[in-house]
Amino acid sequence: MAGNRPLRIGVLTGGGDCPGLNAVIRAVAKTLMHENLAEVVGFLDGYDGLVTDRSVPLDWAAVSNILTLGGTILGTSNTADPFRWAEKRDGQTVITDRSRDALQTFQKHRLDGLVVIGGDGSMAIAGRLEAVGVPVVGVPKTIDNDVPGTEMTFGFQSAVNVATDALDRLHTTASAHHRVMIAEVMGRYAGWLALHSGIAGGADVILIPEIPFRWEPVFEVFQKRARHGKRFSIICVAEGARPAGGEMVIQRTVEGSPDPVRLGGIGRLVAGSVEQQTGMEARATSLGYVQRGGTPCPFDRVFATSLGYVAARLVADRRWGRMASWQQGRLTDVAVKDVAGGCRKVPLDDPLLSIARAVGTSFGE
Ligand code: F6P
Repeated sequence: MAGNRPLRIGVLTGGGDCPGLNAVIRAVAKTLMHENLAEVVGFLDGYDGLVTDRSVPLDWAAVSNILTLGGTILGTSNTADPFRWAEKRDGQTVITDRSRDALQTFQKHRLDGLVVIGGDGSMAIAGRLEAVGVPVVGVPKTIDNDVPGTEMTFGFQSAVNVATDALDRLHTTASAHHRVMIAEVMGRYAGWLALHSGIAGGADVILIPEIPFRWEPVFEVFQKRARHGKRFSIICVAEGARPAGGEMVIQRTVEGSPDPVRLGGIGRLVAGSVEQQTGMEARATSLGYVQRGGTPCPFDRVFATSLGYVAARLVADRRWGRMASWQQGRLTDVAVKDVAGGCRKVPLDDPLLSIARAVGTSFGE
């Protein structure tokens, strides 16, 4: 309680959506309401709703029956940044600082703190808001699993499930048609999603941004498998993977976004090269947004609920500037400022890399 009144807390979801956002919103709001610790308000469309003052009350009715729902009941934006507000004027994108508007909205709603559910970009903005007078608590989300300060983000396991299911399905056509089937998965600059789904789906080759690949070792995999009577192969390629000495494949740029680069297309490039260099038939499938969509898997429902609970406890204890986190098998918290804007990549000594190599998976090294 602030004095003798319950706290008033804002919640927003920022950046790309992912399974489990609603489970976190529900856990934060229910935990805080349960003991009458706080009233909760949700801002719409990420930081956009904070700048333009668009909100909804997050009462019991609003957060009931949303645990299994994909997306976010609050909406989100991966371009809205109060400090770099992009607006079209006469066909031109004009960038202004609207952090004062965000602060005014926060004060107008008589809020004590703001829970930001987002990735590294959202945490970077949260850190800056804290510096101008908005106490924040963070919850790490993203299918990319690349937020520093936590060994796992919610949403990641659901995406691994989708990608693994896709690899299983690609196996049947690969084997029936004696083809090389390539699945391009998301993950931005980190290879976590490709690594985990590639191992789970039994990919023969996994290509990740952290290990620039060479073509020859990839082609050798097909020859080796052919010697064992296997006339097909499966490649799981991260969207951020690139050949040694080459560049990442950029699909488009999004004006006004904190990181305007959108990756995509490496799968088709790999397929083209395989056909040209080996004569084998190859097909690429880009899994795209299905990896982010739909209901969270059971693990993510539990994990998102747990992270939401940690965030609510941080709020109740007024431990501002902290982000809920998972480290060494337990729930904990870290400073938002240490997380902001970073990218947690697969370390080259990650045990999973050695385990995959041990069972014959190639990283194109
Ligand atoms: O960060 C999540 C993610 O899905 C990445 O894996 C992907 O590179 C990016 O977002 C796509 O962003 P957008 O939704 O702007 O196309």
